[in-house]
Amino acid sequence: MKQYLKHHEWQIIEEGFDPHLHRVSESIFSLGNGRMGQRANFEETYSGDTHQGTYVAGIYYPDKTRVGWWKNGYPEYFAKVLNAPSWIGIGFNFEGQELDLAHASVEKFVRVLDMKQGLLTRSFEATLPDGKKIAVQAQRFCSMADGEVGAIRYALTPINFSGTVKIKLSIDADVANKDSNYDEKFWDRVYEESQMGWAVVNAQTKKTQFQVCTGMEYKIEIDGQRVGGKVFTHNKEKYADNIVEITLVQGKELVVYKYAAVLSSENHPKEKLVKHCLAKVDEASKKGFATLLQDHVAKWNRTWQDCDITIEGDVAAQQGIRFNIFQLMQTYTGEDERLNIGPKGFTGEKYGGSTYWDTEAYCLPFYLGTTNPAVARNLLIYRYKHLPKAIENAKKLGFKNGAAFYPFVTMNGEECHNEWEITFEEIHRTSAMAYAMRDYIDYTGDKNYWIDYGLEVLIGISRFWSQRVNWSGDKNRYVILGVTGPNEYENNVNNNWYTNYLCAWTLRFTMEAIDYVKKNASDKLVSLFSKITFNEATEVARWKDIAEKMYYPEDKTRGVFLQQDGFLDKELIPTKDLPAEDRPLNQKWSWDRILRSCFIKQADVLQCMYLFEDDFTQDQIKRNFDFYEPMTVHESSLSPCVHVILASKLGYEDKAYEMYLRTSRLDLDDYNNDTEDGCHITSMAGTWMSVVKGFGGMRVRQGQLHFNPFIPGQWKSYSFRIEFRGRVLKVKVSQAQTEVLLESGEPLEIIVNNKPAKIS
Ligand code: BGC
Repeated sequence: MKQYLKHHEWQIIEEGFDPHLHRVSESIFSLGNGRMGQRANFEETYSGDTHQGTYVAGIYYPDKTRVGWWKNGYPEYFAKVLNAPSWIGIGFNFEGQELDLAHASVEKFVRVLDMKQGLLTRSFEATLPDGKKIAVQAQRFCSMADGEVGAIRYALTPINFSGTVKIKLSIDADVANKDSNYDEKFWDRVYEESQMGWAVVNAQTKKTQFQVCTGMEYKIEIDGQRVGGKVFTHNKEKYADNIVEITLVQGKELVVYKYAAVLSSENHPKEKLVKHCLAKVDEASKKGFATLLQDHVAKWNRTWQDCDITIEGDVAAQQGIRFNIFQLMQTYTGEDERLNIGPKGFTGEKYGGSTYWDTEAYCLPFYLGTTNPAVARNLLIYRYKHLPKAIENAKKLGFKNGAAFYPFVTMNGEECHNEWEITFEEIHRTSAMAYAMRDYIDYTGDKNYWIDYGLEVLIGISRFWSQRVNWSGDKNRYVILGVTGPNEYENNVNNNWYTNYLCAWTLRFTMEAIDYVKKNASDKLVSLFSKITFNEATEVARWKDIAEKMYYPEDKTRGVFLQQDGFLDKELIPTKDLPAEDRPLNQKWSWDRILRSCFIKQADVLQCMYLFEDDFTQDQIKRNFDFYEPMTVHESSLSPCVHVILASKLGYEDKAYEMYLRTSRLDLDDYNNDTEDGCHITSMAGTWMSVVKGFGGMRVRQGQLHFNPFIPGQWKSYSFRIEFRGRVLKVKVSQAQTEVLLESGEPLEIIVNNKPAKIS
């Protein structure tokens, strides 16, 4: 855990430059706009330890997978989130002396991410090895108003000298991924050009042949007056720049404005990319930094109006939730149905691939609650479009008859993950697609989704389950062998309770969907059944049988469900007995030791109780929480939010608050010592759920909104807004009372603390 950032309601603030924390800060201060993103790398040269990262949504590379023993069904490739051409470079050379913070004495360093405005500002004073002292203030943003535009304002004042400076404004496509297996580079040259005042580089990814064209223009001013200087233009393969030589006068501020346009062949015809890119960057440069910033801030204002959560009386908690919402909103805007929410968003490369079960299990509720239902529907349709690939994936593993097995990690529907214990065994994820559908239908009331898309997906998934289970004569029940549950600190176990529960539930849910479509669109049902050659009588009869006779491991003495058949053979030790220096276990222990231990990476039995809360009594939830929570190490970012929600329900207020800080400040305080790889974007939606479903106790039951709020003792009040069936509601909870206001839309009856209340 690291606590070096200042607490502030709207800003993330780092004071003082510590090179050891630089990679962590590069992740935390990242910027994005749904189309592109940028780690908080310095504009000027930095020869110290850094993780350079520029990303463009949807652009990936199918890298060779590195495995010792090939197993049938392994994916052909691992989808890499590609480090894309960098547009931020502005180098400074003062008569042979490079500005490089790794070789300067740095004072008054402050880095601020203003989340209200989506603006990154960095200021410092640096004394170069030859004694020259300069003051810098650099600002940049990725425009939320135009997803293809980024802009930088870099102000530099020579404090104790006059002289010439060479300013290098570059675009560099000769970039590599930190996680390249064989030090390979993934970009081929297409075109570069550099002319006075502008440059453009078009590059193409190997194999996938995506093109990304990056253009720049710039303006330089001294004391507010435009200066031209002497300009030298260069370009070479995958690189173009302008070097501008300017005379600096001691004490006079030089300001460089750099405008960039980043366009991809996902959105423009390849043959027009360069032209469109130059037009876009020209338009940006003509608008100028101030106007671009104004449009960008206006967009952020509108976004915050809809989705801000306020917390009074606890700045760390307030900063935490805003940071999570900010990162989510700059990762995925819901405008492009081809995109999804990668676990690292635009903040790092780890976890290659854009889509995990995280989207369905964690992110969907956030988008349902904060934006219009089309966004959540788009996320479901994304998986609908991947159905043929999920069927192909299942086929590779020996399943037949249209069984659909969704990949653990994907870019285009194909599996990209190749650790057998996850690829083949973490099968619960295929049901996350079904659960998301239920979430969407419960929240929006749009059951027609089943008719248009949903049922076909559900039948595919149910066909998978009906082939994956087997009948145990010994138990006289259906069992599911050789699986990994959500808790990845146990592999290849039998009868993971979560998995068995999800399997049976999915079968029942699919039968419910068939009944609905039969009643409401029987013609569509007939054509779907014929398209997928569905034999209703025999297939449904088997599903019913499985759902009724599923085996669930349980310890009747303790009154708890068992994570898997062998869980009680383990030595049950609470995490509080673990030496602090052993944490996080995944960085300190051997894998073998982790697997034999009872320690739980992320909510598993409790995850199921959170998803299907109404299937269990409060007493059952309490017993299971009391049993599993003390053994949970939360080394998956997806874990603490589930614990907040259950702890809130159980009235464990201190635990709920502790877990809230853990989920909301996971990256800000680097709880798991891995923020340097990028932020945990998908779990940030879990932070939102912690407040809304946890503290706010929001649920939708039979189409009706329920709130059961509690407020942590540390807070004066908190408030959030939600969109619900054409309405916007504002919920404000203080120590004294709960207010639910209807901000727009038709009056409705809600349930607050188990009592009906009409709001209008
Ligand atoms: C978790 C998975 C999750 C993945 C991506 C892993 O550490 O165990 O459940 O899907 O991270 O967030």
